[in-house]
Amino acid sequence: MTDLQEIKNRLDLVDVVQDYGVQLRKSGRNYAGFCPFHPNTRTPAFYIFPESQTWRCFGACADGGDVFSFVMKKNGWDFKETLADLAKRAGVELADARPKDAAREAAEDRQAALLDTAALYYHQLLLHAPQAEAARRYVADRALTDETVAAYRLGFALDSWDAAKTHFTAQGYSEAELLAAGLLTEHEERHTRYDRFRGRLMIPIRDLDGRVVGFGARTLDPDGVPKYLNSPQTALFDKGHLIFGLDMAKRHIRDKHEVVLVEGYLDVMTAWQHGFRNVVAQMGTSLTEAQLRLLQKQSKRFVLALDPDAAGAKATLRSLQLARETLDRDLDVRFNARGLVQLEGRLKADIRIVTLPEGQDPDKLIRTDPAAWPRLLAEARPVVDYVIGVVAAELAPGDAKGKSAAAAQVLPLINDIADPVERDHYLNKLGKTLGIEVAALRQAAERQRKDRPPGRGKGGQGRKGAGGQGSRGAGEQGSGGEREWSGQVPPEPEGPPDDFGPPTRGAISVGGSTIATRRLRHSPQLEANFLRQCLEHPGALSAVNYLLSRHKLPEVSAGDFARAEDKALLTEIAQRATLPTVATIAELCDSLDSALAQRVKVLAATPPQPGTKLERLPDSLALSVLDWRLEKIREHNTIFKQLHPAGGPTDSADELTLSYLEQVRQMKRINHARDAMSATGRRRAAEGKTKN
Ligand code: UTP
Ligand code: MN
Repeated sequence: MTDLQEIKNRLDLVDVVQDYGVQLRKSGRNYAGFCPFHPNTRTPAFYIFPESQTWRCFGACADGGDVFSFVMKKNGWDFKETLADLAKRAGVELADARPKDAAREAAEDRQAALLDTAALYYHQLLLHAPQAEAARRYVADRALTDETVAAYRLGFALDSWDAAKTHFTAQGYSEAELLAAGLLTEHEERHTRYDRFRGRLMIPIRDLDGRVVGFGARTLDPDGVPKYLNSPQTALFDKGHLIFGLDMAKRHIRDKHEVVLVEGYLDVMTAWQHGFRNVVAQMGTSLTEAQLRLLQKQSKRFVLALDPDAAGAKATLRSLQLARETLDRDLDVRFNARGLVQLEGRLKADIRIVTLPEGQDPDKLIRTDPAAWPRLLAEARPVVDYVIGVVAAELAPGDAKGKSAAAAQVLPLINDIADPVERDHYLNKLGKTLGIEVAALRQAAERQRKDRPPGRGKGGQGRKGAGGQGSRGAGEQGSGGEREWSGQVPPEPEGPPDDFGPPTRGAISVGGSTIATRRLRHSPQLEANFLRQCLEHPGALSAVNYLLSRHKLPEVSAGDFARAEDKALLTEIAQRATLPTVATIAELCDSLDSALAQRVKVLAATPPQPGTKLERLPDSLALSVLDWRLEKIREHNTIFKQLHPAGGPTDSADELTLSYLEQVRQMKRINHARDAMSATGRRRAAEGKTKN
């Protein structure tokens, strides 16, 4: 995935727009508000289409785009500034920023080397040290084979305050380095430094690339506390970003198109030993969004195999009640079914949950009956299913209050599902399970949906301090924004759009196609081909602009392109066209931001549209510009008409109507120019032929 895609995937346009102070109101599947780019107070002209993550102004701007173009336009920033800002907001480290300062990098390399040596040191001790006898017995008791011990490089830390410290300082590492790597601990008052890990079974924790970044150290004492002592947070060890076993499992996860998440280190190792190799563990902490992202790069099918004690019915229910509170704090999803669904939606992942039988964990289960493991995984149920089951199991028969509370807990989950058919399926299921009329549930769900404040993309951002009343759903916070609302939001059209839907994801955003459009859109290809030709033939842009100006049409500008990187690229091309030297594509890539260079490489690799002779290139490109401008206006007007089904343009003083009429006029102008242009083109082509 490119940096740009990653940023777009992580951000929610609704959140971003709201953070710029734009008041939005839900209108069907979309959001509407007053346009922040032009004076707009009567009829809300500005729309956001969450499914395609695009926005559009139907008023004076008659413009639209994605999160990048919004932020660019709002701040008057160029692509680079916008990229830097949004990358920071999304928590994406840009490729350009990666060559960080050399000193830090060297220190990290040294720490990685130290941890690697340390893993080997502990491993040797486990295998050979006389003091490790009990540890070897423990490993045998847990039925781990030599092969597993070697594969995970399990080790043993001597029961001593300074064995590791002495060993590694003798190797030339300073105490400060050992401390920074988490191998030593410093006494708070006395400031003495001693071995962090003593008398424990050492489990190296590796990152995705297989680099040792820390340790999980298990006590050998049945009553030892803590059971697992992990490395502290260090430059390399960040629990929230690590998944235990992923380095070894990733290949198998991709092969099986499925990742199984368990809770414990031992569970992963036992599964591995029995040939179940797509199994990883979540490091004892709640599953974080960063971890989910790491995983979804390997597969989008998740099976969560939760221990009965940890994720049992009670815990799930409790956390459901705390869901809103929790969502405000962080994106805790381990016990948080609500959060799971929301993440599921954003990650486009399929998340299923299975609870282990009472008194079991994967380690025990696999050891006693390996064949039961795949059977159990096959029973995993979709999150909502799972929660309905849990809620129903807790319900006393005939408890009307309980029923209503149970429904209130599950409805927000169901409402988070994007797909209406799926939503309906679960409403029916909930009704059946609880013995409630589905119509009543549907009504309640509808009410909750309507009450819901906009901008829930980031797991409840903007609902700060609203926790605590889990049963009321997400209703009451929307009122703040609504009070200042004066205009009426037109209802959303029913059914699929008859021409274009709201701008499709494929055109502007990247990745999944979302809304089925009846007509094939050409503009993305036309825009890409245009840039591609201009990269190869640097004179093309000014030739096209000359043709356009002859027909009194605006020159090609950034506004003609849907993708933020294409907008930036056009600006680059325009600037370069004035330079005396012509850069090769490779030279160009070297001088561009990596995000732009990535785009150039993609463009350069696509074959040009066939059948265009070089001398006809400006004509054909100019025509293609007109074609895509027409397509966009048509699309704009189609969406407009759908949002205003009452005939749309009626009140001739209405700003939106005026804009609509202006668009129609422009369309005529372009059509006119198009006819003239293609007539000239045909004539010239004919002259060319007679000359030959
Ligand atoms: P469990 O308590 O379920 O341990 O914790 P386990 O993996 O089944 O361990 P065994 O089978 O008793 O050896 C699950 C995970 O939570 C983290 C570890 O990652 C552990 O594997 N954990 C647990 C800690 O980090 N610290 C603890 O004190 C306990
Ligand atoms: Mn266990």
